[in-house]
Amino acid sequence: MNPLDKLKGRKVLVTGGAGFIGSQLVRLLVEQGAFVIVVDNLYTGKRENLAGLPADQVELHVVDLRDQTIMPELLKRVSIVYHLAALSVRHSLHSPYENHQVNAEGALRLLEMARHAGTIEQYVHVSTSEIYGTGSGDMTEDYPPRPNTVYGAAKLCGEMYALAYHLTYGFPAVVIRPFNAYGPRCHHEGDSGEVIPLFMLRCLSGKEMVIFGDGMQTRDFTYVEDTARGIMQAGVTPACVGMILNLAYGKMVTINELANIVADVVGVAPNIRHDPPRPGDTLYLLGDSSKAREVMGFEARISLREGLTRLKDWYLSLGSTPEQMLQQSPVRNWEAGRRPPLPNYEWATYQD
Ligand SMILES: NC(=O)c1ccc[n+]([C@@H]2O[C@H](COP(=O)([O-])OP(=O)(O)OC[C@H]3O[C@@H](n4cnc5c(N)ncnc54)[C@H](O)[C@@H]3O)[C@@H](O)[C@H]2O)c1
Repeated sequence: MNPLDKLKGRKVLVTGGAGFIGSQLVRLLVEQGAFVIVVDNLYTGKRENLAGLPADQVELHVVDLRDQTIMPELLKRVSIVYHLAALSVRHSLHSPYENHQVNAEGALRLLEMARHAGTIEQYVHVSTSEIYGTGSGDMTEDYPPRPNTVYGAAKLCGEMYALAYHLTYGFPAVVIRPFNAYGPRCHHEGDSGEVIPLFMLRCLSGKEMVIFGDGMQTRDFTYVEDTARGIMQAGVTPACVGMILNLAYGKMVTINELANIVADVVGVAPNIRHDPPRPGDTLYLLGDSSKAREVMGFEARISLREGLTRLKDWYLSLGSTPEQMLQQSPVRNWEAGRRPPLPNYEWATYQD
């Protein structure tokens, strides 16, 4: 039996399901016949990310994952949890404590509520490759974690809580460490702006691509459908319980090389500017996903060039022009600007 068949008619909960990776995961879960409860406070997530999904299979709750009145009731209705909700790396630079409150403390709160629900058969905690910091060589799950940022540190704390719940309470937790994802619904705007959407939109609108530092920092980019499929598989493969699993395409590219490939895919000559390096930037990432392949048959299928072509087509299919989208993304380094604190963020309830 294909483990994904278990999802047919199954009730699952996705935190951060209105975000970039979360909304792709929700799409895949719906395709498998699951009923999906999405929990998202829409801080960076958007209702539009769930547009077109069947109302009889997706229920959106605009609620903070730390809410202690609504969350326990929602958790009792499901048997699989995918925890993706988080605040971003750039957010952690200007608001480190708030970042910790969601990414570490929030992860613990959710684990505790899920444990008490008494219904959870598998719990997928989505962490990040940023917990490794600047690495070297092929980075397996045994690579020593040494995060560069509070985001990486808070995410590491969250994943350690998930494993501790497994070891202490026998709670069926799995930890997933995705490497950088890209694809439709990725963020070009504000705190969440990522290099691939920014390079692509700038190329599409005839502007220069801005590289922070010398551009020799490396990343291992994974197309979002591959990332989301790996996360989905981790929720239905019992052998994953208690494990940490990387999800990566497994090929390294420098940011300089990336800029050239993006320009080529868009069909323009590369126009590149170098600005000073970003504080806390991770300089080397290359993921080894052989454990995920062995345990749950994970394969990243979409090459960087193919994924970038799909992303370009997606941008061109949208109603807005690249220039309009870029208005939300003035070029600024990570240290500049400060987003005002969230209103009444601690224990706030954002239910509609
Ligand atoms: N994008 C990547 O390249 C990447 C790589 C590795 C790991 N990850 C991890 O994957 C997950 C999803 O990342 P993403 O890129 O889709 O980011 P995203 O910002 O698009 O998604 C996060 C979602 O969480 C929601 N959220 C934030 N705080 C919340 C709270 N307190 N309560 C409820 N909802 C809340 C946001 O509104 C958003 O929809 C995160 O855990 C992130 O750390 C992402």
